[in-house]
Amino acid sequence: MDMTAIRDFAVETARAAGALLKENVGKVNRIEFKGAVDIVTEVDRKSEELIMASIRKSFPAHGILTEESPEVKQDSPCKWIIDPLDGTTNYSHGFPFFCVSIGFEVEGEVRFGAVYDPMLDELYTAEKGKGAFLNGKKIKVSAIDELGRGLLATGFPYDLRASKDNNLDFFSQFSLKAQAIRRAGSAALDLCYIASGRFDGYWEMKLRPWDVAAGSLIVEEAGGRVTDFSGGRFSIYGKECLASNKLLHGEMTRILSNK
Ligand code: IPD
Ligand code: CA
Ligand code: CA
Repeated sequence: MDMTAIRDFAVETARAAGALLKENVGKVNRIEFKGAVDIVTEVDRKSEELIMASIRKSFPAHGILTEESPEVKQDSPCKWIIDPLDGTTNYSHGFPFFCVSIGFEVEGEVRFGAVYDPMLDELYTAEKGKGAFLNGKKIKVSAIDELGRGLLATGFPYDLRASKDNNLDFFSQFSLKAQAIRRAGSAALDLCYIASGRFDGYWEMKLRPWDVAAGSLIVEEAGGRVTDFSGGRFSIYGKECLASNKLLHGEMTRILSNK
């Protein structure tokens, strides 16, 4: 597998889609509701079209899993996992925290990830086994080793009004133990902020593969850990994501697994 071609393509495509998001920020005029608080804008769809057309042109045999279209299944071990706009609620309000997330999977393993924040012009990348980078500079997780000094991040699922399994209980427990918590509104960027040491721990439930495919690899390659809530093996197709600088992982799993 020529990973150079994959990397160059992912970076170029993330930047192109990011430019489209930046150009249109503040100009959204059509919002559709997928659920009570789950929205999609015409910009999500335009970004997705751009990315899917690029993949079809450069890698026509590869599968594509994206948020807003049916999965493109192919008889290939290679699959692109795309969130064309992570942080749609922020985007629709002009709150400048959103990104494009592109993950590349081979035989079920994420091998490359790129997350691009067009507002700060920050591009996070990681290739399996090769480290994590922010705008080409190597990054690593923080050295905070006490929850009480940690800045944590989380998010709430779109079904929070309908389901009791909505993270409010964990949120109140962590609020009393961490230095502070942020709910910034983009899971992919939250993970990249763990990787770059801005956040020390992050947990969220009911995420989808496109939210975490790229970001989870970026955390691991920056020296962090990603698991389910009890410290077990993480899957991008699973329901729980706990990411940390490794040092806070034990304390966080104790709260998240009610031990
Ligand atoms: C959402 C964001 C948010 C998280 C949600 C995600 P979207 O993705 O990542 O931070 O809390 O669960 O679905 O809908 O903006 O692509
Ligand atoms: Ca998302
Ligand atoms: Ca999205």
